[in-house]
Amino acid sequence: MARLDVDERFWHGGDYNPDQWLDYPEILKADMAMMKEANINTVTLGVFAWSALEPEEGKFTFEWLDQIFEEIHAMGGNVILATPSGGRPQWMSEKYPEVNRTDEMNCQHRHGFRHNHCYSSPIYREKVHIINQKLAERYGQHPALAMWHISNEYSGECYCERCQANWRAWLKKKYGSLEAINEAWWMRFWGGTYSSWSQVLPPSPLGETKVHGMDLDWKRFNTDMTIDFYLNEIEPLRRLTPDVPVTTNFMAEGHDQHDFIPLEGLDYGKFAQHVDVVSWDSYPDWHNRYESLAETAMKSAYVHDQYWSLKQQPFLVMESTPSVVNWHQYNKSKRPGAHILTSMQQLAHGSDSTLYFQWRQSRGNSEKFHGAVVGHDNSTQNRVFQEVAEYGERLARIAEIKGAGKEVKVAIIFDWDSNWALKRGGGFGRPTRLYPQTLQEHYAVFWEQDIGVDIITSEHDFSQYDLLLAPMLYLMRQETMMKLRQYVSAGGTLVSSYFTGMVNETDLLYVGGWPDELQEIFGIKPQELEMLYTDERNCITFDGRRFETKDYSEIISVREADILGEYQEDFYQGTPAVTKHALGNGTAYYLAARTNRDFLKLFYQPIIEELDLAASLAKAPIYEVSIQSRVKNGYIYYFVMNFSDDVQMIELAKETVDVETGQTVKAALKLAPYETRILKAVR
Ligand code: GLA
Ligand code: ZN
Repeated sequence: MARLDVDERFWHGGDYNPDQWLDYPEILKADMAMMKEANINTVTLGVFAWSALEPEEGKFTFEWLDQIFEEIHAMGGNVILATPSGGRPQWMSEKYPEVNRTDEMNCQHRHGFRHNHCYSSPIYREKVHIINQKLAERYGQHPALAMWHISNEYSGECYCERCQANWRAWLKKKYGSLEAINEAWWMRFWGGTYSSWSQVLPPSPLGETKVHGMDLDWKRFNTDMTIDFYLNEIEPLRRLTPDVPVTTNFMAEGHDQHDFIPLEGLDYGKFAQHVDVVSWDSYPDWHNRYESLAETAMKSAYVHDQYWSLKQQPFLVMESTPSVVNWHQYNKSKRPGAHILTSMQQLAHGSDSTLYFQWRQSRGNSEKFHGAVVGHDNSTQNRVFQEVAEYGERLARIAEIKGAGKEVKVAIIFDWDSNWALKRGGGFGRPTRLYPQTLQEHYAVFWEQDIGVDIITSEHDFSQYDLLLAPMLYLMRQETMMKLRQYVSAGGTLVSSYFTGMVNETDLLYVGGWPDELQEIFGIKPQELEMLYTDERNCITFDGRRFETKDYSEIISVREADILGEYQEDFYQGTPAVTKHALGNGTAYYLAARTNRDFLKLFYQPIIEELDLAASLAKAPIYEVSIQSRVKNGYIYYFVMNFSDDVQMIELAKETVDVETGQTVKAALKLAPYETRILKAVR
């Protein structure tokens, strides 16, 4: 998988859709010259080009793509070549309706939109395989080919008869017998016990939507189906081009709910094991009205860190916008300077690229107002183009950082299983479960202090971290409990909370309540989980101060832990809310209540000091100034980013060198609004 490493440049470019402009030769000609001017070195070709590559069944028209390949190569550029399965040609849907998706209401869709195929359809799989093989045969040895981009933003589920048969086969393989499913899903409740396999259907409003274990398995099944479809896609590529790395672009979600979190639809932890390089499409809601720019930056940082952590190696930002998106509720332009700032943030967290959707704005159809490097004015003189070009110049000046690693001592566990199970189960407060959002609250404490954090799954190795945060890890397998126990015994520091370890792998409660393993780790036993209305508050004391709590108060009894905080109100007044337990060489903390960030800051401070986690560059970290670092060849590289409209003064704890100018920077650094400086020091 050499090609990403071979190129010493950060990849700068993005989706290029010449297939939309084949009747406009003057545009295609202009593109190449303009790309040079914008300091673009990488383009993603062919994402939705199937109908341009195979306009009729079995009739292939690669000539236009040949030409673009040559031109990109002549420019010294890389091609990330997409397989076109994200958008089927019309003729295929018409001739073979089975390729179209069937929804949960049993309604088969017509051609339309994109990303809406049936993953089981043998015809769709065959057609994808054929075109992918042709692409590999034709371009596999082309020197410009740098990476495969498989399909586009895989997502969604199909409920057709074939997918249902696959679902049953998947369940048979997993459970072996109907008895095991009846037990795992607790089907005796409402007397739903299965007596034959043909009764086992997917969850649907037409039938079952309340069987939590089924919902959870359906999500897992869809991840596996998608991966299986993907493996069929990459088979010819692996065979014909074993040296070309393969990726598929992951997503984030939540924009219109004021959230920004990794997409919950597919288990990317699992999917990442099948790609060579993780890549994702990043569209934070910059300059929104509901939070500061720094707060949006914190959320964006969290998602970057999660995508870094999946493989703990440099990832790619496969898409981002140089200006506006077109599908937010309100689509705000990036303010002058914000494009460079927010793109530098991608690199700061471990990306080796800044790629855009898209190079040239389309003339019509659904995304004609989505931002692009080249706008409808076709000009190199506008602000967006100029900022992109300037960013490209800066990337060239900091190329020595390409491929750099990260040194991280703190990790947060996020599990897709746990998220799915907690979101879908009954009980508690519907709007207040907020699992990833709560993890982000914990993350924010570290982000504010410029302390790097990985966001890992339960499958990762915990031993590499000094501090492990596992709040709200609702679904927990026995293996995870053992791993946590080992981690703490060996000297690790663990923080967990209410909602942790409540259910097993299939969303069944543990018989007898909270598992002994967890009681032994934390030295406590939960008694009740009390829900608070959104306007209701309790209060805890901690370190001589009072802190407000909200949403959840778990009432716990202590077996042998130290009590650090107690509830102040209600019928559980005076009972423990924060505990600390020594186990082996390590320590396990338990937070029984949901708190605000002010408490979390104070809570983590002594832990940060004791474990010596504090970041090394700024003497006093500033919330609006984020400093993130990467390491390579004996150097530590600091990206110092000002996410505010004010000039910021940062006092430096050590002498550094500005990577772009070579000048020494010591004592103090003055940052203009939105400015980023990249400094290095010997490690
Ligand atoms: C996604 C898709 C792109 C485009 C962009 C912008 O990330 O992959 O094709 O639609 O969003 O909206
Ligand atoms: Zn299907």
